[in-house]
Amino acid sequence: MKKKLIVGNWKMNGSLAANEALVQALRAGWPAAADCDVAVAVPSPYLAQVQSLVDASGIALAAQDVSQHDAGAYTGEVSAPMLRDFGVRYVLVGHSERRQLHGEGDAAVAEKAQRALAAGITPIVCVGETLAEREAGQTEAVVRRQLAAVVHRNGRCISEVVVAYEPIWAIGTGHTATPAQAQQVHAALRAQLAAASAHAPAMRLLYGGSMNASNAAQLLAEPDIDGGLVGGASLKAPDFLSIIAAAR
Ligand code: 13P
Repeated sequence: MKKKLIVGNWKMNGSLAANEALVQALRAGWPAAADCDVAVAVPSPYLAQVQSLVDASGIALAAQDVSQHDAGAYTGEVSAPMLRDFGVRYVLVGHSERRQLHGEGDAAVAEKAQRALAAGITPIVCVGETLAEREAGQTEAVVRRQLAAVVHRNGRCISEVVVAYEPIWAIGTGHTATPAQAQQVHAALRAQLAAASAHAPAMRLLYGGSMNASNAAQLLAEPDIDGGLVGGASLKAPDFLSIIAAAR
């Protein structure tokens, strides 16, 4: 049985003091019955700090972005081998905030996934539609296009990727997709992956978008929802711990 994967995306939040308090609270309150994989995706300057805070805790380290280039004159960028140096296990690629605010396109996202895989880091490929796209009946077409670029570029390794479905209208809004809405998209993504890899049933597809302590269990009960990508609720230890406890 594949374990569920719960990833906290801290986004651009935190400080040395706040990170230490949060990770200590997670470690202190860890549910005895927890039976899922857990990671926290932290801002780059804090990778070294959080690497040592999570040491031997079972919490894996994740980064929020990676360069599509390997090295060189790319001011401000962080490469996959650099992330690897700090024990990074997962990296988000193609988060909608990067697609929308930083103009990342499907091709760049696919290259980022490729760089991560080459460095031995699992990319968490984020896909998702805007409210306008959903209302226009384009949800599946949009997420299929976003995923297709990654499959096309990473064909042989595609089973090493984690996919996160994050409807943009649900991010930070308190409007969670219903379990049925999320499951429908997850099933479509699974079918797309099955056409590319015999390992699709074992791949993990996460849901993200206002997942919280109250709705996590219902979302995670859907057959194709294998975990969560949690923003706001991952900054509050009791809430994140409740989500971890719900992931079985
Ligand atoms: P929220 O959980 O705050 O809606 O954020 C979701 C998200 O974007 C995680 O990557």
